[in-house]
Amino acid sequence: MKSAASSGAGKDVRLEIEKLREQIREHDYRYYVLADPSISDFEYDRLMKRLIDLEAQHPDLVTPDSPTQRVGGKPTKIFKQIRHPVPMLSLSNTYSEDELRDFDKRVRNLLGGEKYEYVSELKFDGVALRLVYEKGALVLAATRGDGETGDDITANVRTIRAVPLRLKLSGETSAFSNIEVRGEVLMNRVEFQEMNREREESGEKIFANPRNATAGTLKLQDPGEVAKRPLRFFSYYLLSGEVALKSQWESLQLLRKLGLPVTEHVKLCRSIDQVVEATRYWETERDKLPFEIDGNVIKVNSTGQQEILGSVARSPRWAIAYKFAARQASTVMRDITVQVGRIGTITPVADLEPVFLAGSTISRATLHNEDYIKEKDVRIGDTVIVEKSGDVIPAIVGFIKEKRPSTAKPFRFPHKCPACGEPAVRLEGEAAYYCENYECPAQVRGRIEHFASRRAMDIEGMGESVVDRLVSIGLLKSVADVYELHNHRDELEALERWGKKSVENLLNAIDRSKLRPFSKLLFALGIRHVGERTAQILAEHFQSMDKLTKASLEELQFVSDIGPTIAESIYRFFRDQKNRELLSRLRRAGLRLEESVRRKEEKLSGQTFVITGTLSAYTRDQAREMIESAGGKVTESVSKKTNYVVVGENPGSKYDKAQKLKIAILTEEKFVKLIENSR
Ligand code: IVH
Repeated sequence: MKSAASSGAGKDVRLEIEKLREQIREHDYRYYVLADPSISDFEYDRLMKRLIDLEAQHPDLVTPDSPTQRVGGKPTKIFKQIRHPVPMLSLSNTYSEDELRDFDKRVRNLLGGEKYEYVSELKFDGVALRLVYEKGALVLAATRGDGETGDDITANVRTIRAVPLRLKLSGETSAFSNIEVRGEVLMNRVEFQEMNREREESGEKIFANPRNATAGTLKLQDPGEVAKRPLRFFSYYLLSGEVALKSQWESLQLLRKLGLPVTEHVKLCRSIDQVVEATRYWETERDKLPFEIDGNVIKVNSTGQQEILGSVARSPRWAIAYKFAARQASTVMRDITVQVGRIGTITPVADLEPVFLAGSTISRATLHNEDYIKEKDVRIGDTVIVEKSGDVIPAIVGFIKEKRPSTAKPFRFPHKCPACGEPAVRLEGEAAYYCENYECPAQVRGRIEHFASRRAMDIEGMGESVVDRLVSIGLLKSVADVYELHNHRDELEALERWGKKSVENLLNAIDRSKLRPFSKLLFALGIRHVGERTAQILAEHFQSMDKLTKASLEELQFVSDIGPTIAESIYRFFRDQKNRELLSRLRRAGLRLEESVRRKEEKLSGQTFVITGTLSAYTRDQAREMIESAGGKVTESVSKKTNYVVVGENPGSKYDKAQKLKIAILTEEKFVKLIENSR
């Protein structure tokens, strides 16, 4: 590396570059480690762009730990093999409280009467990773492999923004210049789903679950591709040759201080009863986390005691994994049907012998696509394995060969759209069949359902069955018809099981949806390849529908994170006469076709809210939206940084904590006033 002094660049440029790097590192840290971002993606992208420009002008000032250098190097064909000086052990598993208590008895006996504590952690359902930092800089990232030797995936891991390229070394952490960190790479459920949806829309293979997607991504040969995937990282183990670490608890605090992400959901337990309580809690509450966990990991806290306990075979005796009951079940697949989505994708769905799985009865599950069925050779009549994870649609993940009946029938993918009878086409290189008929009733229904859905226009009361009905009686042919339903009040009221009140509610909800921000409307339009994130980026960049519809293909491609396929799809959408008419109808209906004032100028900007208990007039999501549209932020847990706690009926422990920390409490009434005053 050349020293900055030898550069022809002036001092100002060098200072600006250093400042930009500091800022970007800090924002990455705030976003991924503290989960408390202070700027929008748009502003972040602007900082990054400025840094990229400056470095392009002064290539001699580029350093390997600059945030611009996350994607670098050429694709590798084979990963180098790396021996782990300290083997990466695995954990022994338990599945019951009794087994947990047996583990505790063994620990107690081996420690011969000494006092001990446990740390209860989340067992992340991801891929284990080993990181080596030398003098604070990331020099190696390796997979676990067989525990002794793994793959050198440094180039891929450098693209993960949650993994710092450089540690925060100052004060007590200065001593940690050469360390090893272990943790888990994973994907958040929502980001995983969004990625899968985008893959599906562009005809790429979709992943069965976030763990498979993570494992598949880390094995990619091109770091540029890895950078596009929503990988995250949590650390849970610190090794230092130089500094003696007293306990796991202390290690976790140190990891956090070094700038590495550590989940806040760790608990120091003084007895096995507290451990059991924690595992019970997470077994029921796991879906509240944004990512998948498959159990808890219980570790003896003291490092000295860990050494006394040692390990047998390949597992330590000081730790154990408590695994939650599987959310897989096996059942007979009675039939395979196909379903047509809003953009015409035809997907195979398994019709199952109903089976009870993690809280609900399942009778349908996705079978992904034709290739999946062919590759796995799943047949009608097979006993299949269904998996449910989080709020993801249940999916078939395999079948039991031994149980195949002689009557099992291979499935032939239909070559006609089951909804309109038009030919189903499968484009070269794509995994899905499409119905290309824009007027296909299944597509019309799908588009309107998507438009009204919670994450799009959020029209309460306009779920699948209502849309289905209104489409079938001809009241809805396009999403713009939604805003003309008030002209059909009598017809609506005359519908079976509908009355004045429910029609009134629906029309009010439709009215309220007109206030949804521009970005939500863009997402709601269901433009191919435009997911929530892309819609947000477009809204921030173009600020209005007018500018967006006029954008040239080049202008669209110039927007960061918008690739050629997405740009092309947006461009084509706005050139289509039908869509232009649709937009003018939406404009006449009074929808927001412009981005509203930027956050900074908003009244609740910088204010953090926590909501606890049930509100009488609003759902949580609505309250969150009200706060966010006034520039405020909603977080899950109360801390000193919380400004207000909104308290509804039957508040939880957050209310007690707010009182303890003397944080302003808002009743529902006061909350509504505050929102009204900030408009
Ligand atoms: S500690 C010697 N902590 O579980 C202890 N592991 O079977 C080594 N895992 O390969 C691991 N969450 O991928 C530890 N909080 C956690 C974990 C965790 C997930 C995974 C890890 C490891 C496997 C052990």
